[in-house]
Amino acid sequence: VTSLVLLTGAAGQLGTALRRTAPAGTIVVPTDRATLDLTDERAVHALIAVTRPTIIINTAAYTAVDRAEAEPELAQAINVAAASILAREAARIGARMIQLSTDYVFGPSNGVPRLPADATMPLSVYGRTKRDGEDAVLRTLGDSALIMRTAWLYSSHSPNFVTGMLRQIREREVLRVVCDQIGTPTWARGLADVIWRATAAWSAQRIVHWTDAGVASWYDFAVAIQEEGLQRGLLDRAAVITPIHASDYPTAARRPHYSVLDTSNAVAAFGLAPAHWRTNLRSALDEVPHA
Ligand SMILES: NC(=O)c1ccc[n+]([C@@H]2O[C@H](COP(=O)([O-])OP(=O)(O)OC[C@H]3O[C@@H](n4cnc5c(N)ncnc54)[C@H](OP(=O)(O)O)[C@@H]3O)[C@@H](O)[C@H]2O)c1
Repeated sequence: VTSLVLLTGAAGQLGTALRRTAPAGTIVVPTDRATLDLTDERAVHALIAVTRPTIIINTAAYTAVDRAEAEPELAQAINVAAASILAREAARIGARMIQLSTDYVFGPSNGVPRLPADATMPLSVYGRTKRDGEDAVLRTLGDSALIMRTAWLYSSHSPNFVTGMLRQIREREVLRVVCDQIGTPTWARGLADVIWRATAAWSAQRIVHWTDAGVASWYDFAVAIQEEGLQRGLLDRAAVITPIHASDYPTAARRPHYSVLDTSNAVAAFGLAPAHWRTNLRSALDEVPHA
């Protein structure tokens, strides 16, 4: 065995992808809410004392971006306090920790992809708590911490934009989708590959960015999901997809209009180039069971 990994959020999108792709020589101890409540400090301490992982991969998070505006304490408890507890436990036993984070730590941009060292300016409770979680993990663990920021994550199984779009296209004649927020759809499986690479080749960088390649609006992404879904027989008819502006679809949380991460430091550190988002969308849809 080369590494013993404590994986949090094992039932989530990324956690599931990580469980399915663990490399040979790696033992994964998966935890989800049912087996370990991460806000329970004593339970976390006890599990880590017994398992003594060499690496903690913390994918668990409060990820409901709009709901977080109404539940800031809950978001804080998971995204900041639980991340801090894990970092302290990692420091106590000399383990490394990979902390997942988000493009939403950044605020309004001038249309240039974000570098890891760019100043953060979260626009939402979710973004602020994820940023504070990053800070806590870095402060506690220094070179034993790796912050991996990603964006617009989806997988073939969980509730997410892709599975939600397929369902809505089946149920409705007309869909309105935001066309003036730009980002990069990212397949959880591709991110999982990079995370496993990062556990094997510890990066000299403390913060890295990883998304698929390319950019899209939510509208472009929806149109691609429909086209690829029709081709695969996951859909038997098309809906009319209409572009709307974010201002026509008010949400509780503010989101940046242009939210693209520059992944070049991760590409250099890990020697892996991201696939274009549409290529990965095809791979993900190949896994979706027919309704
Ligand atoms: N999804 C995105 O678009 C996106 C974008 C950028 C960054 N990220 C980051 O990437 C990481 C992985 O995201 P994801 O999409 O895989 O998230 P996800 O599917 O929502 O999974 C997160 C998991 O954390 C668990 N969890 C929450 N609170 C917990 C607690 N107190 N104790 C134990 N488990 C708890 C959740 O369990 P329950 O389901 O029971 O709550 C869920 O299974 C997160 O750090 C997220 O912030 C995500």
